[in-house]
Amino acid sequence: MSIPSSTHRTLSVFLVSLVILLLLHCAFHAGSLRVPIQNVGDGAASAYQDKRPSSPAPSLGKLVSELYKPIKLPTTATNYTDPQGETYDNGGRTHWKKPMGHDIVIVDIDTRIPKGENGVFNPDKMDWTAVQSWGPGLLSVAHMNHFLYAQIHGYDYKYWHAQKMEGHGDSWIKLHVIRELLHKHRFVIFMDGDALIQHLQVPLEFLFNRWNISSGTSIAMPIDTQQIRDGEGNISLDSKGEVVLNAGVIMAQNLPHTHDMMRAWIECPTELRYPGCGRWKDTWSHEQRVFSEYIRYDYNPNGNNIVKIPCTEANGFPGIVGREGVIDDCKGEFIRHFTLEKYVAKTSMSDGIMQTLAELLQKNFAANHKQILVEEPPRAQSSKA
Ligand SMILES: *[C@@H]1O[C@H](CO)[C@@H](O)[C@H](O)[C@H]1NC(C)=O
Ligand SMILES: *[C@@H]1O[C@H](CO)[C@@H](O)[C@H](O)[C@H]1NC(C)=O
Ligand SMILES: *[C@@H]1O[C@H](CO)[C@@H](O)[C@H](O)[C@H]1NC(C)=O
Repeated sequence: MSIPSSTHRTLSVFLVSLVILLLLHCAFHAGSLRVPIQNVGDGAASAYQDKRPSSPAPSLGKLVSELYKPIKLPTTATNYTDPQGETYDNGGRTHWKKPMGHDIVIVDIDTRIPKGENGVFNPDKMDWTAVQSWGPGLLSVAHMNHFLYAQIHGYDYKYWHAQKMEGHGDSWIKLHVIRELLHKHRFVIFMDGDALIQHLQVPLEFLFNRWNISSGTSIAMPIDTQQIRDGEGNISLDSKGEVVLNAGVIMAQNLPHTHDMMRAWIECPTELRYPGCGRWKDTWSHEQRVFSEYIRYDYNPNGNNIVKIPCTEANGFPGIVGREGVIDDCKGEFIRHFTLEKYVAKTSMSDGIMQTLAELLQKNFAANHKQILVEEPPRAQSSKA
């Protein structure tokens, strides 16, 4: 059987296009590998191998990013209006004008790995209705939220399964991970396993502008929700009476000053520099208290090296005030932190996804109404007297 020449031509055109596409694809990914790498030897054993571009699932990322395109807030937007009509501006700042893509990594860090029933790392099909909003179930909820958000905006995502640190409370594990990832990315964003991105279509670059996270900012963290506990008083203050920053959300930028700060923070309990720091190794609130007790007073020479994000924008959740002695009404407007009410985290996460899908679907109803809307003409008046 001979191939007709027109088919032949079509086939050649197709093959040539395919080769061009492949080349473009390779060039695109090679380009994305260019990230600022700064070597500040810290001697720590490295578990980190950069496996880009094969991870994370590039094809899903492309599809998701494309899907969300119609509702994604542009980096340079001056404001964002949430579904309830509340408008948030960018502070009139334009520190960040272009999407940073792989220069930003979102990392989940845990000594646990959710691979039990309905866990994200379990190969068996997940039953969403059976996912629990606490324990390992909540971790999967948060990891999916963080991963999806990274896919929408083209950020990198890592799940770091950490080893426990002898003599240290578990929350200490994140510091060396952040330090290590800073060698590969411009920004490292860490969020606790009960902290969720509320508005999936709002990029970090817009929030950086809003929060005045500039090219000179080393670390940004939200102000903690103040809580009064029976017999202990105000447990959210440092020894100088300043409200602590909550280490459940850490945004760090790869700058020499940041590495100095991370070293001082990690080495604080050795007491070589900060006498009395050793007690925070295994006393709550561990590394969180260390940052607020010591580091923030010594590493903020320009006033913008450390950014305090308003509590209500990156901490708490609606209805937190009054619970267990909480005195601040921090609503988690951009990042919700379900410290005291884990069981609503799952609903909040699925509502967040559904909100964006609803917006997309609604846009499509509007755009295609001519094709999908069948308008029945009014019935003729019956002539009954
Ligand atoms: C908010 O953003 C919209 C869309 O870009 C713009 O038209 C509007 O002027 C902005 N409003 C304010 C108050 O900046
Ligand atoms: C924002 O940060 C810049 C430094 O990049 C600083 O000069 C300015 O005062 C800050 N603005 C506010 C409102 O904090
Ligand atoms: C906790 O601190 C806040 C203000 O920072 C203050 O209003 C409150 O009275 C303090 N409560 C206690 C018990 O120290």
